[in-house]
Amino acid sequence: MATAQQAPFTAVVLAAGQGTRMKSARPKVLHELCGRPMVHYVVDAALAAGASDVVVVVGHGRDEVSAYLDRTFGAQGKAVRTALQPEQRGTGDAVRCAMPQIAASTEAVLILCGDTPLLDPWQLTQLREALDAAPAAPVAMLTAQVADPTGYGRILRDAGRVVGIREHKDASAEERAITEVNPGVYLARSAFLGRALAGLTTDNAQGELYLTDIVAQAAKAGGVAVVVARDVGSLVGINDRAQLAAAEEVLYGRIADRLRRSGVTVRTSARVDAGVVVEPDAVIEHAVVLRGRTRVGAGARVDVGSVLTDVVVEAGASVKPYTVASQSSIGAGAQIGPFSHLRPESQIEADAHIGNFVETKKTVVRKGAKANHLAYLGDGDIGEGANVGAGTIFCNYDGFRKHRTEIGPGAFIGSDSQIVAPVKIGAGAYVATGTTVTRDVPEEALAIGRVKQENKEGYAAKLKARLKDAAKK
Ligand code: UD1
Ligand code: CA
Repeated sequence: MATAQQAPFTAVVLAAGQGTRMKSARPKVLHELCGRPMVHYVVDAALAAGASDVVVVVGHGRDEVSAYLDRTFGAQGKAVRTALQPEQRGTGDAVRCAMPQIAASTEAVLILCGDTPLLDPWQLTQLREALDAAPAAPVAMLTAQVADPTGYGRILRDAGRVVGIREHKDASAEERAITEVNPGVYLARSAFLGRALAGLTTDNAQGELYLTDIVAQAAKAGGVAVVVARDVGSLVGINDRAQLAAAEEVLYGRIADRLRRSGVTVRTSARVDAGVVVEPDAVIEHAVVLRGRTRVGAGARVDVGSVLTDVVVEAGASVKPYTVASQSSIGAGAQIGPFSHLRPESQIEADAHIGNFVETKKTVVRKGAKANHLAYLGDGDIGEGANVGAGTIFCNYDGFRKHRTEIGPGAFIGSDSQIVAPVKIGAGAYVATGTTVTRDVPEEALAIGRVKQENKEGYAAKLKARLKDAAKK
């Protein structure tokens, strides 16, 4: 992390490119890993490394990218803004477009690419230290040794000193054999950067303004401070969906390990997204997927195959296998599933039970209430300790509007009842099995509405004889 003595620096994130190899209508930097677009991680890394503010250079899909940054970082009060690069004329041109947004007082500019989501803030801090340690050097940069350098800019050295970068497309066969490459992470002193950018030309294989050409200028002006990266994996740039998938697995692994070290049991095949919070002693079983703003409280258990999106699970609750829930809350000690479906705005209070094949939507199930089997509970309020029998249906929709069902505390709804909303069932009332409730039921009353049973003595034997006879013909 940045220390107090260090001068503030601005980060520039290059994110204007189209990302042709993603083969997508969506701009590359908005493709997601673990529930967040890749540019989110890059901005986060810059802020974590101590950047006072971040300028994201946008071009392709600028409106979408800007809107995402505003709603995410703007909402958190972070100093993240955008600069427009109208035409993608190269990485040097991209940084030029960001310069007007950088305060004159800024001493150094950290330059990152928007497609390197695994970046480690610690590596950026090392760059900062390298520049501080080399007062004559106008630029510090990371380099990495890789097995396959194809596509990367190669690091040119002379007697050990870095003297420039050669892009793959411009490199000779001899230069292409160099395995020390440019991961695209630089920290430059602002005064030098302004001058160096002004000196760039398009005299190269791609006819672009290469940011990498500032390195040769820096070598002449006072030298390049170099940090050879040890963790090459965290510098990987994403160009296609295969690389995206591989990077996502690395991130899922990091998230799971961070949780494990904080006291959470996370099975290897669980997938916990970046924004999810899990408290100690919670258990996240195999094949569980936790997404969005999900939060799992201490000691809660989310069992195999459950998928929770924006769900709050309070301490000690148990979510049994194959539960699907979204935008809902599950109270302390509550039991959900197996095979329950909590649709948005389901609020299951403490110690309540929702069992197999029960679907809830916009419904409050109050403390200790139970609906253990096969039910549809939509637009309802189920009172404390009430019991909803198997096969109960809240008939909440008349084809035009939704209506509410209210069930008082301690009420008992017999199996296979249809509750035709809007309707209220009073506290402690009893609805007999198989009843279609169309009118309010007063407190402590019994509602019964079903055809009266009739027994015909000896009739079964006669019926069977007749049916057997009929089958012979
Ligand atoms: C660049 C480097 C190369 C390095 C590699 C690391 C240059 C000239 N080359 O090559 O040395 O090894 O990154 O991954 O810088 N972008 C813009 N505007 C543009 C062009 C690019 O914003 O006009 C952005 C892209 O969105 C991307 C980043 O800059 O996030 C890098 O661009 P890309 O085209 O991927 O550069 P590389 O060819 O990979
Ligand atoms: Ca690239």
